[in-house]
Amino acid sequence: MATELLLDSTPMHRLFASVRLATPSDVPHIQKLIHQLAEFERLAHHCSATEVSLSSILFNSPPFQSFTVFILEISSNPFQSTLPHPLFSPITQTLTFNLPIHDTEKETFRSINDDGIDAVVAGFILFFPNYSTFLSKPGFYVEDLFVRKCYRRKGLGKMLLSAVAAQAVKMGYGRVEWTVLDWNVNAIKFYEEMGANVLQERRICRLTDEALQTHGNANN
Ligand SMILES: CC(C)(COP(=O)(O)OP(=O)(O)OC[C@H]1O[C@@H](n2cnc3c(N)ncnc32)[C@H](O)[C@@H]1OP(=O)(O)O)[C@@H](O)C(=O)NCCC(=O)NCCS
Repeated sequence: MATELLLDSTPMHRLFASVRLATPSDVPHIQKLIHQLAEFERLAHHCSATEVSLSSILFNSPPFQSFTVFILEISSNPFQSTLPHPLFSPITQTLTFNLPIHDTEKETFRSINDDGIDAVVAGFILFFPNYSTFLSKPGFYVEDLFVRKCYRRKGLGKMLLSAVAAQAVKMGYGRVEWTVLDWNVNAIKFYEEMGANVLQERRICRLTDEALQTHGNANN
């Protein structure tokens, strides 16, 4: 009886999550999230993304044809899809927790979305099409996936990656792939939990800086 009373009196905290297409007005938040991801990956010294550099490349093509960003938002009010995008209807989810979430960056990531809902940006995923000759089908390559620290382990990373997988299926694409740093064991566990195959036999090859310039200028 005492246990039942205790369980019944446990306060439940309810929040609403939404995954929607980013718009140019999200660039300041996207830039901050990219820098947080770079810091997390200990690669901040390689991160030069500015709002100007991002704005000049993102949103130049219709969604899914090139670089595409999904934004994850959290609100204490339900999201209403009064203005659905013709190419992507936002995905929403209700979350319940025993403990409240303490978001120290709430003001920095505050966003008033198209529906007039007061929300906070909690994460993002950036992806673009690639192509597999073997499958003879396009796929999506995920460049970045990030959920802000206080929102982790609540199913939100899964919500973002699943949104990209669902879009790939909808478009008849063959696969979704990405890379992960070998020390990022938490992300690897997350990806394995998602059912992803973490390929041990593949290595990333990259031409950058001088090597890129040397070969790029070889025929000039
Ligand atoms: C990786 C990341 C996107 C996962 O997002 P998330 O919202 O925390 O993950 P979810 O809550 O959706 O996790 C789903 C399941 O994956 C597994 N999982 C996720 N994070 C885990 C962790 N830290 N340790 C072990 N398992 C984990 C769990 O099985 C989890 O389900 P459960 O919480 O019910 O046990 C997030 O932790 C993050 O942004 N990390 C920092 C940046 C990063 O590593 N990005 C990926 C770069 S490749």
